[in-house]
Amino acid sequence: MAKVQSIYICSECGQDTAKWMGRCPGCGQWNTLIEERVDSVSPGGSAANGASPAVPVQLKDVADIQVERLKSGMEGFDLVLGGGIVPGSLVLLGGSPGIGKSTLLNQVLASLAGRGVKTLYVSGEESAAQVRLRAERLGAQALQVPVVSETALETVISTLAAERPQVCVVDSVQTLYSDRLASVAGSVAQVREVAGSLLKMAKRESVAVLLVGHVTKDGSLAGPRVLEHMVDCVLQFEGDRHRTYRLLRAHKNRFGSTDELGLYEMRGEGLAEVVDVSAHLLEGSTGAPGSCMLATIEGTRPLLVEVQALVSGTEIIPPRRVVNGIDRNRLSMVLAILARHGGISLGGSDVFVNLAGGVQSSEPGADLAVALAVASAAKGISLTDGQSRDGRAAQLVAFGELGLTGEVRHVQHPRRRLAEAGKFGLDWALTPPLEKSDRDAAGEGAHQVGTLRQALQAALS
Ligand code: TYD
Ligand code: MG
Repeated sequence: MAKVQSIYICSECGQDTAKWMGRCPGCGQWNTLIEERVDSVSPGGSAANGASPAVPVQLKDVADIQVERLKSGMEGFDLVLGGGIVPGSLVLLGGSPGIGKSTLLNQVLASLAGRGVKTLYVSGEESAAQVRLRAERLGAQALQVPVVSETALETVISTLAAERPQVCVVDSVQTLYSDRLASVAGSVAQVREVAGSLLKMAKRESVAVLLVGHVTKDGSLAGPRVLEHMVDCVLQFEGDRHRTYRLLRAHKNRFGSTDELGLYEMRGEGLAEVVDVSAHLLEGSTGAPGSCMLATIEGTRPLLVEVQALVSGTEIIPPRRVVNGIDRNRLSMVLAILARHGGISLGGSDVFVNLAGGVQSSEPGADLAVALAVASAAKGISLTDGQSRDGRAAQLVAFGELGLTGEVRHVQHPRRRLAEAGKFGLDWALTPPLEKSDRDAAGEGAHQVGTLRQALQAALS
């Protein structure tokens, strides 16, 4: 094979060099030089290079395409993609190692194969025998999926062209490599080359490609970030690998909204769709001091989560702030607001906050519930309404953002949150000031609080 020439281009300043260097000679940044293939097209000539011009068409005259989406039958997965897999699309599934990406896509292919869709599983990461081992846990349907264990990009492309599956999984983008580049598999240049070739092939042969990409803990790995612009959809599979719940969401979707959310539970026999998450999450809640229910919104889905807090005196300076499921800085802010505007100072105590069930919440609407859980833990007062229903007193549900001046601020979809709480018989709720229409829809147990002080009064008295 003829030697293909490469040059190295700085991703920061665009400087090019003939050899790789650790530091860009142009801008002085470290580790920014990326290999680029030089194609043998002779430079120069006119800018158009002899290409014939394209004819623009008014948007209203563009023929609309009716694409028949391929439904996998895994509801959450289809929903997140906007109603099924679009033929010829390139979907990137990111997630940290061991979260269950291969399992999910294995199950998707199995389900598709069961519906008569032609599938193929290309594994660069595991041998065919290893893929089989997993498939055995997933059931008989999973064993019907054809598998190829291969890491050479060119072989994969020609296999796809020969087999012409309707949907194929490539697991993972970091393990495939092209002969045409000198850099190792998983490097930015290789990852781009692999994705670029798969993209062209996907469009040409109308094969939907589900591409797996790894993300490290800080999300900084070369792969997925540079890929995000190339692919049609970016899905993220997240959750704590030591716990059972997994969230699937779209960060980018050219064929649908990015609001939807798929929820799965990792079981012994693969991932199971979780239909009623709130019920699962509610099951273990005790209503003991330090516990407050949060009505949060994940995508467009309301979700009831128990916020648990523990406050314990300490000699350590500074005291510890340990969080699970919420942002640590957000907790620091809530604690500062509690001290300044709620009269609860915890400078001499360790504070631990946990969202039950391994759920993560990044929305500011969680502030009020976190503050109330911490206050409840600090005072040793339980946040239940004392009126027992089927042997259990109803727990307080709260949502709202806390402002730095101690006010409780409006958050999205208050009505949906209240409805979800009501569904489980939790009708004692503290909410931010509501608009008229929301107010009318809210039940009698919903109390609007304008400030943190009012909220503490209503909750703890
Ligand atoms: P895997 O899909 O290989 O993760 P990834 O491809 O994201 O790296 O699966 C990860 C974990 O899931 C693995 O540690 C074992 C567990 N698992 C189950 O608990 N049940 C199952 O049925 C399967 C297939 C895996
Ligand atoms: Mg895997």
